[in-house]
Amino acid sequence: MSELTFTDYYHNQVTLSFLDHPYSLTPKHVWVICQLEGKWLLTEHSRRGIEFPGGKVEDGETAKEAAVREVYEETGGVVSTIQYVGQYRVEGKGGTIIKNVYYADIDHLVSKEDYMETNGPVLLGNLPKDLVTNERYSFMMKDNVLPFCLEHLKKSK
Ligand code: GTP
Repeated sequence: MSELTFTDYYHNQVTLSFLDHPYSLTPKHVWVICQLEGKWLLTEHSRRGIEFPGGKVEDGETAKEAAVREVYEETGGVVSTIQYVGQYRVEGKGGTIIKNVYYADIDHLVSKEDYMETNGPVLLGNLPKDLVTNERYSFMMKDNVLPFCLEHLKKSK
């Protein structure tokens, strides 16, 4: 099974793959599943709610560099190791976006004045069971990307 398709929270079509960069070698978006000392490290986006950190790849940086930067900007987390997990494509109303998913181990948190467009780090022992209906959580956490990636990570460990 090299490709999984489903719809997201907004009913957009999503295609997820764990192959090596199947949709783009230079994706413009990244998302990072992070752990610090056995806890999940997320961020609280001021509009979208709680989500794993991520964002857009800037000119002159690689997707992996963007992933490390976004984790630091949105949570203060300093990445110790980071691995590519997969890539997904969302066919949205405004066009198609392609996003790399990474898994990162975080060495420590730096306390900062500014967490960009977020309220900073959120550490969770467990992800809530009611994630999909919980209004405090971002739409990005509510489709099948997260459970499929977590399952893939569990298998590959
Ligand atoms: P920013 O405010 O700069 O983040 O801009 P934006 O809202 O235009 O966001 P972006 O270009 O990142 O995404 C455009 C659209 O793609 C969003 O409105 C979503 O519908 C969709 N999208 C972006 N990221 C994801 C994601 O991780 N999962 C899903 N399902 N859709 C996403």
